[in-house]
Amino acid sequence: MTYNNPIESISPEGAVYYLFGATGDLARRKLFPALFSLYKEGKLSESFAVVGLARRPRTNEQFRADLYESINEFCRYKPSDADLWNRFAQHFEYMSLDINDVNGFRELNKLSSELDKRFHIPGNRLFYLALAPSLFGPVSFNLRDGGMLESEGWHRLVIEKPFGYDLPSAQQLNQQLNQVFKEEEIFRIDHYLGKEMVQNIQVIRFANAFFEPLWNNNHIANVQITLSETVGVEERGGYYDKSGALRDMGQNHMLQMLTMIAMEPPSRLHGEDIRDEKVKVLRSLRGYASSEDVRRNVVRGQYTAGSLGSKELPGYRQEDSVDSESVTETYFAAKVFVDNFRWAGVPFYIRTGKRLPVKTTEVVVEFKAMPQNVLFAQKHDLAPNLLVIRVNPMEGIYIKINAKKPGADNAVQPVSMEFCQSCQIGINTPEAYERLIHDAARGDSTYFTRWDEVSHAWEFVDRIAQAWREDKSDLAFYPAGSWGPEEAGRLLHEEGFHWWPVNGQEEDNVIWITNSGK
Ligand code: BG6
Repeated sequence: MTYNNPIESISPEGAVYYLFGATGDLARRKLFPALFSLYKEGKLSESFAVVGLARRPRTNEQFRADLYESINEFCRYKPSDADLWNRFAQHFEYMSLDINDVNGFRELNKLSSELDKRFHIPGNRLFYLALAPSLFGPVSFNLRDGGMLESEGWHRLVIEKPFGYDLPSAQQLNQQLNQVFKEEEIFRIDHYLGKEMVQNIQVIRFANAFFEPLWNNNHIANVQITLSETVGVEERGGYYDKSGALRDMGQNHMLQMLTMIAMEPPSRLHGEDIRDEKVKVLRSLRGYASSEDVRRNVVRGQYTAGSLGSKELPGYRQEDSVDSESVTETYFAAKVFVDNFRWAGVPFYIRTGKRLPVKTTEVVVEFKAMPQNVLFAQKHDLAPNLLVIRVNPMEGIYIKINAKKPGADNAVQPVSMEFCQSCQIGINTPEAYERLIHDAARGDSTYFTRWDEVSHAWEFVDRIAQAWREDKSDLAFYPAGSWGPEEAGRLLHEEGFHWWPVNGQEEDNVIWITNSGK
């Protein structure tokens, strides 16, 4: 199977990129560096312009100085080549804009026509809203009313999560956007879909004869998806306290990874076909039948004071902008079933949390145990085979198998064979945002979430949230720096499983064969 996405070879056409929220954190940490990397790698033609937009007054010179600093600090390429830097920076303009004032958008339209002429851009416009979701509607209306959508060429809207707070609010937001943009013009970012290893799941599954035939309930015992973070809520207490782990990570990143693992092979490797298959998985998720069912299958927790390494850490309720009696979850784990022919009876265990001992994202596929009556299993306690996809921050995969220990006594030796991708290519993996901005500029929406994905994900999550609202007594507490509430282990123990340690931290007797040099 060749990976010939039809859009793959096309470089983006010339366009003006409008960055709303240009003085914010996302622009500084992710968006400016992504644009510079794309430019340096020749993935942006010379025919482009970027307009930074925010309320704060700023000259073009100040804006370009901010740009330089951000790239110097956060980009995988440094702006050390003065000639390259000057060529890049001259594409950037800043305009102070009150997003509630349509006259400002009319001014922006004039500036846009000038930029179109200056950089030979055929009227294509990409609007990147690094803003609070409550502003998506008003900005869209003013883009329309200020004449910004009347240029020849395409118009695309890129938005960040959270896309709503629950299904009704997401529907309302979507209705607003649909008054101005068509679904195919809306690019909803889930930055996990831009991660190299999340995209690699399809290749591992559909390009390897020894995985796909086993990829079903005959051979797979369970799937575990862990997304653990060492950070707390940092400066985002205000947002996070209203959101919590379920909405912040569950509704989007975790369910998206689950769909990539569980989906059927698409009939064609086209964006819409892939997204159709993902939607089928979301439709097959078994909704929890009652609040009691939620309590049996979902565990939530909140961190209390603790320590990580030598660092003493405050509890969640002591964080800035967090309610001192907050019952917001900073951790959740769930047992999820995908009720279709392929996955009937196979539990998917998902867990995520803040202030856990390590930062890692991993998918473990645990295969069923060998029958106990075969040769080696009679004498030895054979560990199951595992396929582990390491998403973040280390990238790679490993498989764990059983082999004979050299010598006469027929002892069995577990062996892990690893392809450490990050050891191979180091920092050169493109950042998720780089890939996603490039895709949006080329009109490839494969790795953006379509409205039906978003709405099915909310349906699933809303049932959990509702049960949690009704009865808060199941909120468990865990010290910062631990692996979360112990109850999360129960979800697996009752089926005879356990969470696999992350980062391959296993028993001492495993032999590692790896390209990482360890
Ligand atoms: C974001 C969440 O979407 O993802 C954050 O809002 C979280 O709370 C972040 O920290 C994790 O992303 P990554 O790429 O660092 O794993």
